[in-house]
Amino acid sequence: MIKIAVLVSGSGSNLQALIDANLSGQIVGVISNKPDAYALNRAKQAGISTAVIEHKQYPNREAFDDVMHQQLLEWDVDLVVLAGFMRILSAKFVKAWEGKMVNIHPSLLPYYKGMHTHQRVLATGDVFHGCTVHYVTAELDAGQALAQGVLKVTHKDTVDRLAQRVHVLEHLIYPQVVEWICTGTLQHTEQGVLHRGRLLEEPIQFFKF
Ligand code: GAR
Repeated sequence: MIKIAVLVSGSGSNLQALIDANLSGQIVGVISNKPDAYALNRAKQAGISTAVIEHKQYPNREAFDDVMHQQLLEWDVDLVVLAGFMRILSAKFVKAWEGKMVNIHPSLLPYYKGMHTHQRVLATGDVFHGCTVHYVTAELDAGQALAQGVLKVTHKDTVDRLAQRVHVLEHLIYPQVVEWICTGTLQHTEQGVLHRGRLLEEPIQFFKF
């Protein structure tokens, strides 16, 4: 059974969706860089081990990442799932978990990397918006996209409303992608990413209009 660690910084609604999905893999631990992250309560409620590793207590990114790396090794983790983890990771850490670490980002990547995605979508007047699950590489929000949830922006949307609508999509697609990884339906290989045994050239898209 695949052992999963989830890295969080905030509310942890994606962590909750993963817990509720009863995955084939086991969530063996949750790491937060914020001691007051609500996600920690969710983990404890579900009987999952937690570790608080505060980035502020380390002199640099590498030192912080090394402590996280050691914790992941201690839990014997196969897959690292970033769920609202708001720290940029060092190249060394990313390399160590290459092909074994996924992230969810609130935009249709490659558009709107970084922060304030909903605001930027509204300011640009885009018709479509959504979220992307991707492998993590050293470049921010740039690893291969595995799946996207797509919604249609309406005149009623505000930043808050869009954030809420994107969250609904995230809670659908993230557990699905993680489950596919757990069952081997999605595989990271030297030849590329395979989905159902075929080379994945474009992210799998889910629509909710
Ligand atoms: C999610 O919307 C996720 O896409 C975003 O943080 C939120 C966390 O919500 N992640 C990023 O912006 C990463 N760049 P949650 O704590 O309720 O799961």
